[in-house]
Amino acid sequence: MKIIETDCLVIGAGLAGSAYALHVVRAGFRAELLSMGAPLEANSDWAQGGIIYDTTADPQALARDIFVASDHTSNPAAVEQLVREGPEALKELLLDDLAVGFDRDAAGGLDFTREGGHSVRRIIHAKDTTGHAILTAVAARVDATPGITRRSGWMAVDLLTLSHNSDQPRDRYQPLTCFGCYALETATGEVAAVVAKKTILATGGLGGIFLHSTNQPGSVGHGVAMAWRVGARLIDLEYVQFHPTVFFKKNAPRFLITEALRGEGAVLVDAHGRRFMDAVDPRGSLAPRDVVTRAIQHHLATTGEACVWLDVSALKPDFIRERFPGICERALAHGVDITREPIPVVPAAHYSCGGVHADLHGRTNVRHLNAIGETACTGLHGANRLASTSLLENLVGARAAARADLAELREGAFPQARPRAWQSPAKKADPLLVRQDLLLVQQTMWNYAGIVRSPRRLARARRILLELREDIQAFYRDCRPARELVELRNAVQSALLVVHAANLNPESRGCHFIQPDDTAES
Ligand code: SIN
Repeated sequence: MKIIETDCLVIGAGLAGSAYALHVVRAGFRAELLSMGAPLEANSDWAQGGIIYDTTADPQALARDIFVASDHTSNPAAVEQLVREGPEALKELLLDDLAVGFDRDAAGGLDFTREGGHSVRRIIHAKDTTGHAILTAVAARVDATPGITRRSGWMAVDLLTLSHNSDQPRDRYQPLTCFGCYALETATGEVAAVVAKKTILATGGLGGIFLHSTNQPGSVGHGVAMAWRVGARLIDLEYVQFHPTVFFKKNAPRFLITEALRGEGAVLVDAHGRRFMDAVDPRGSLAPRDVVTRAIQHHLATTGEACVWLDVSALKPDFIRERFPGICERALAHGVDITREPIPVVPAAHYSCGGVHADLHGRTNVRHLNAIGETACTGLHGANRLASTSLLENLVGARAAARADLAELREGAFPQARPRAWQSPAKKADPLLVRQDLLLVQQTMWNYAGIVRSPRRLARARRILLELREDIQAFYRDCRPARELVELRNAVQSALLVVHAANLNPESRGCHFIQPDDTAES
């Protein structure tokens, strides 16, 4: 087994992981940056709407909006950190250092937009492909930075801990401590050990455990599942945010229709052109996501319609083309000209507000294991995330974690553990079984643990998933690891963890909505 040694092992090369790597390497340490797929294959790349850059006179207004969106459940310390450190973290990396091409107004200043739940315009954007503009610049800087070794097509399989994986049996008496991971090189099928002083989970979210999702393929909660296997504390996993507006057309892929369209004046209507949100919430189509999502779900369940519509007629065609070129192009490719007709939309799983519990420096309860970005839960989002907070959370969390780690890395007291060798069975997994099992996980989660939950639905989900996990574990033990198999193993585990958390919480709040069995509607 190949052993790679480094200072910081970053699992996930989205915005959070990449920003962390840049920070520690600039301070003279080495980082290995692992990503399952190509460099830009990360949820950060698909973020459309924008990133909060709050330079208004009243920064506490942002804190208030975050609390309101979360139904007053967010962790005040995490909110305060975002509000206080956000503008500087963004300016430092994205404006001053990388000069990301955010849109400008006629006077050359940054152009600010709005999304649901925001009381003022405080979101900057690059057309409707903000995440792509940011991650492209960040990835280029990563690749030009000596000291960061990018390993695309490498996926972490399991974390290494002293208790589980050291070649010294007595290490199991040590406190719970992480020292790297086993990593699969997907092109060769070989497993190596990456031994690190600090291991950072930045694997993104878990939307991919649901049948319909805005996430990159393979976003099935890898970090959450790996962290659970080594005994890390997980929190708030029942709070899975569904995005209200995802493109819906038969035989076309689902893709995000940014909330910024509503921020610019588009409204949700039903098949008869009625603005059904106005009767639901005084903020209408710009109510927080959980409110809008449930209203759409309720509307679809009671009318039997397949989708609702985003009416963009209040926006001038030239403005739509100029401001939302990505959505225009993709919708047109599937026969919808959004400058002339409403956009058919439905909700889809979007963001995990919960995750691996982390303090404000990314530290988990496992020594030397950090979690940042969507994988982590500092409590910032509470029961429901405010739009356009996630890219900013990535920057703030990465910077805070790197600063704390640098202090420790300089002091230099880390375990000198060696991992036990990895044994791989020779048998190849049957791809048809793997695909079908993943589909079963996704359908189960969508139908029984999705937007509207009930105790009976959750119990059904749990039964199906427990049985499936048995089969998948057996399958996993017998077969050579491959990306799809590792994904399936983590998907069923993350799904069970979400269902477990949902079962334990009888209170409907934010994006966890649970109804008594006899009143549950689809
Ligand atoms: C969107 O553009 O609607 C998504 C932005 C986000 O989830 O913060």
